[in-house]
Amino acid sequence: MHSIVLESDTDFEGWRKAARQLVLNDIAPTHVRWIVAGAELELFSALPETSLSDATQGTFNVSAKFVELAQTAILHRDPERFALLYRLLWRLRDNPDLIHVAIDSDIAKLQAMAKAVRRDEHKMHAFVRFREIGREPKSHFVAWFEPEHHIVELAAPFFARRFADMAWSILTPDLCAHWDGHAISITPGVSKADAPTKDRLEEVWLTYYANIFNPARLKTKAMQNEMPKKYWRNLPEAALIKPLIAQAERITGDMIAAEASAPKKPQRREETMVKSHATKTAEHSGKESLAALRDEAADCRACHLWKDATQTVFGEGPQHASVMMVGEQPGDKEDLAGKPFVGPAGQMLDKALKEAGIVRDKVYVTNAVKHFKFVPRGKFRLHQKPATPEIKACRPWYEREKASVKPELVVAMGATAAQSVLGKITPIGKTRGQIIQADDGTQVLVTVHPSYLLRLPDEDAKAREYAHFVDDLRIVAKHLSAAARAA
Ligand code: URA
Repeated sequence: MHSIVLESDTDFEGWRKAARQLVLNDIAPTHVRWIVAGAELELFSALPETSLSDATQGTFNVSAKFVELAQTAILHRDPERFALLYRLLWRLRDNPDLIHVAIDSDIAKLQAMAKAVRRDEHKMHAFVRFREIGREPKSHFVAWFEPEHHIVELAAPFFARRFADMAWSILTPDLCAHWDGHAISITPGVSKADAPTKDRLEEVWLTYYANIFNPARLKTKAMQNEMPKKYWRNLPEAALIKPLIAQAERITGDMIAAEASAPKKPQRREETMVKSHATKTAEHSGKESLAALRDEAADCRACHLWKDATQTVFGEGPQHASVMMVGEQPGDKEDLAGKPFVGPAGQMLDKALKEAGIVRDKVYVTNAVKHFKFVPRGKFRLHQKPATPEIKACRPWYEREKASVKPELVVAMGATAAQSVLGKITPIGKTRGQIIQADDGTQVLVTVHPSYLLRLPDEDAKAREYAHFVDDLRIVAKHLSAAARAA
């Protein structure tokens, strides 16, 4: 038996070097034991460490895809990962195409491990909460996080880019990452007792969270999926979740009670609606579900925007909405909340929809670009308009959302949305307010983006433009009632 000691849990270079020598020495996977230096080494102290000669001649190639997956999967916490990677390397030497055989149990395990690591990295990006120690200009921001896998070094560059001008430390039980404004340093893990528990910004954050928590759009299961309970214990806002859900349930209960006293709808029409919904569901069955698309989009790397954004902000709304509204890209608030149109532009949209007689929850709302593009300016992140390559890179998501929802009308809000929906740069003034047909046959209504209304400096112009926007949305409202009548 050959015992290979790796320097750390994330020692990919050590694994790679040893694995290469083992393969070239023809040492079968069943004869190799992988050990991480440290506490566990004592258990194996009776075993001599294998020293493999570096001088072994010969080469063999593995695909870049395997290397990329292995670099990610090695960060998984499963103690068997080193053995799995070596077994795969051994098998790939004679069968390079194995990497494409998704049903092979080793390949499937490798893929699943890499996926779990990437998901954990996303969760860390989204759920790290810094607390301020000391006061400006000497303040230091400290966060406590408990990653599921060995992802601290992987995730740290994201925080260095995002919070480039603040000194921060992320403490975890495995490793701690620190940023001093110039370089990242890594130190050993610490215990939770070493992390601060409260700061002066906490009240502000809690108030903001309670404000963006929309009881009308509460989907407890989806919420727990996005924010698994295991992360709650380190999120200051988690203490608010239960009371907010209880409050939402109370409000829903009141709404249901109020509806009970309203006049009953004619029976025949209700039956038709149920039947029509079932028919629609059958029509869509076999297509990609929005839930599956959302899951896949969480890992999107089609352009560079994912690097600095907190998360992919996917569309939201009913699976079979007859109207799909498309904006430009998530803003600062959307990037943090993981939901489209929840910030100032979203409030403007909600107000205009209401005035036009449209219930937002009945339409599917999404963006042409699904990651927030910004430049950091001090504590702020300034919105940047997406460029054509970014719009094009993201377009397949819009197309797949559209194929899944099958809306009868798509509303493109603003120039970026119009470019994505119509597949070419289209001045808004030319087509605004008319239902036109895209090259693929989609019925499209082009209008302005709600944030355009927010930017107008003159109050009269603001009121005029807002009324025009509501008029455009009334066309959508008419369409919705016609669709409901037809159903
Ligand atoms: N602007 C957009 O285009 N989309 C959002 O989700 C928020 C602001």
